[in-house]
Amino acid sequence: MKTVFITGSSRGLGLEFTKQYLEKGYLVIASCRTPEKAKALHDLKMQYSDTLSLIQLDVTKEKERDRAFDEINEVFDSIDILINNAGIISGDGKNLYNLGDVHKEDFMKVLEINSLAPLLMSEKFLPLLEKVTNAKIINMTSQNGSITQRTQGGKYSYCTSKAALNMITKILSNDLREKEITVLAIQPGWIQTDMGGVNAPLKPAEPISKIIELVETKEIADTGKFLTQEGKELPW
Ligand SMILES: NC(=O)c1ccc[n+]([C@@H]2O[C@H](COP(=O)([O-])OP(=O)(O)OC[C@H]3O[C@@H](n4cnc5c(N)ncnc54)[C@H](OP(=O)(O)O)[C@@H]3O)[C@@H](O)[C@H]2O)c1
Repeated sequence: MKTVFITGSSRGLGLEFTKQYLEKGYLVIASCRTPEKAKALHDLKMQYSDTLSLIQLDVTKEKERDRAFDEINEVFDSIDILINNAGIISGDGKNLYNLGDVHKEDFMKVLEINSLAPLLMSEKFLPLLEKVTNAKIINMTSQNGSITQRTQGGKYSYCTSKAALNMITKILSNDLREKEITVLAIQPGWIQTDMGGVNAPLKPAEPISKIIELVETKEIADTGKFLTQEGKELPW
């Protein structure tokens, strides 16, 4: 049985990854900031009591990353896939990312969660990823992180955070190539979640199912790529 570890599983795409990996028979470690509020995860736990583990984790907090590692390391021998999914569009939900509204603390928070935390999570959980062959780190990025495709102004913090995440994906893939750990940046499309909003054209089920299939086919030869949910390479 393969083990997948997903951050930001309380809702949106993280919750959909959790559901679909459970349906596929994976051992799933679903982490979220406030498990007591994550009703959907508790409902899944009733159904998948043997294969779902719930872990409290704010990805930006070192002590919580350390504790999560200890808890997981005690129970699991290894991790096959780490999905760095947790993310925010703006620090306090007020979209302080456009010219005229740029706000230092807000910007730094977006970078901390969207860019730095996936790197620190990958670093922390490396000992468990190293224990399997063909382990994978999946960074949930966005087309907004493509410098080449950025033709509009605005959204400074979110776009910058995902461009930085793309660079981190590339550097990490170089560092981990010898260990045969595949690192990918995958953009899921515009999807109806709290972040994507109601006008998004896609619902989570289909793109997440495509990403799960895509991840299953990817190997070390593909490491360091920036891909759509359909596996098409995107320009950096
Ligand atoms: N939806 C889209 O259209 C779209 C498009 C491109 C890329 N993405 C990317 O896909 C990922 C998931 O997006 P989504 O649409 O599912 O967003 P969402 O519905 O807003 O959910 C975000 C998730 O991240 C968690 N989170 C936020 N800060 C965290 C932290 N410090 N530590 C741990 N968890 C934290 C949230 O937990 P709480 O419940 O505790 O707040 C929530 O579970 C993000 O990285 C996003 O940038 C989404």
